Amino acid sequence: MAETVFEELQRYVHFSEADGALLRAFRPLARPRFQEIAEEFYARILSHEEASRVLHGGESQVGQLKVTLVAWMDALLSGPWDEAYWQHRYQIGRVHVRIGMPQHYMFGAMNVLRAGLGQVALERVTGAALEPTRAAVGKILDLELAIMLHTYRDDLLAQQARTERLSTFGQLVGSIGHDLRNPLGVIETSLFILRGRAGEDERTRKHLDRIKDQLDVANGIITNLLDMIHDRPLAAEPVLLGEVVDGAVAAVRRPPGVTLEVSGVAELPAVPGDPVQLRQVLVNLVENAVFAASPAGAVAVRGRRTGAEVLLDVEDSGPGVDPATRRRLFEPLITTKERGIGLGLALVKRIAERHGGGVAYSEREGGGARFTVRLPC
Ligand code: HEM
Repeated sequence: MAETVFEELQRYVHFSEADGALLRAFRPLARPRFQEIAEEFYARILSHEEASRVLHGGESQVGQLKVTLVAWMDALLSGPWDEAYWQHRYQIGRVHVRIGMPQHYMFGAMNVLRAGLGQVALERVTGAALEPTRAAVGKILDLELAIMLHTYRDDLLAQQARTERLSTFGQLVGSIGHDLRNPLGVIETSLFILRGRAGEDERTRKHLDRIKDQLDVANGIITNLLDMIHDRPLAAEPVLLGEVVDGAVAAVRRPPGVTLEVSGVAELPAVPGDPVQLRQVLVNLVENAVFAASPAGAVAVRGRRTGAEVLLDVEDSGPGVDPATRRRLFEPLITTKERGIGLGLALVKRIAERHGGGVAYSEREGGGARFTVRLPC
């Protein structure tokens, strides 16, 4: 039978049955110290600002994670180190990928375990068994690190495949988008003529208005799609964001239950950029915010300046974005809307970056979402 990835990795680090026996013998000696090692493990993460960012759940989450880490160490030293073990550890690796934990923290984290378990071995294992036990601990932790990194690699490969799919998809969508413009144009012209003939018939006018609305929606989707595919040349003129925000806010419909507050944007200095594309950024963000806050809630657009950058926050009091979606929020075709196709935020990111800035998500104080667009000024 062909060698599995796990067997191949075991062969690479020279992990043998003798190592397994040593780990099992070491387990009862190390067990009383698991809690202490888990404390050190999370103290290290919490003392590091960037690494601790993925711990959103506060003390209760850390408490729970310590329990899972103790169980993890127990399984580490008891085995059996078979395919089921690999699968289980692989799933744990996937959890870290899913929450967007940068893989470089894995090395330092694994070293805390290495040092902790190594120290216990020094103190508790006596005689000739000491060195082989320490070596066995080293090998199994190398294997664990390899499994963790493997999950990141698989994720990267999946992303690459996605990008390739998207590129093919992009070409297809581009041509469909172009082809749809013509029939939509014909409908629009005929609609114009029908409007002239509809006279005072209330119902007919209402339905013609409806057709026009939906036509605008369809055209908007096509514009977004085509903008996504072709990088339109950027105009570079001084843009007053106050005006752009006002225009965008006026273009977004919102139910009466959703309040909208704009502040701090009129005072902002002009930024070099493309007013049409920046308007698109604001329209997309405000549309999303209104959608999230509907049927009743609050949306706010706030401007501020820090150093050489202008920041625009678009906030809503909706449910916020769940951690699993956050990581891929700005990728095309990721949507939480039943009728959306997931281009709005991808386009926002693309336009902001083409202006030398960016966009980031954070949680709004008191619940909800906040998108912050950065633009150099
Ligand atoms: C040697 C490295 C590590 C090991 C052995 C480890 C172990 C674990 C285990 C066993 C779980 C539970 C998985 C499950 O629910 O099935 C977990 C989840 C988690 N780990 Fe780690 N971890 C490591 C590194 C890190 C680092 C460096 C961080 C933070 C910087 C971190 C943050 C988290 C978080 C936030 C979760 C919970 C994710 C969720 O359920 O939403 N881990 N880890």
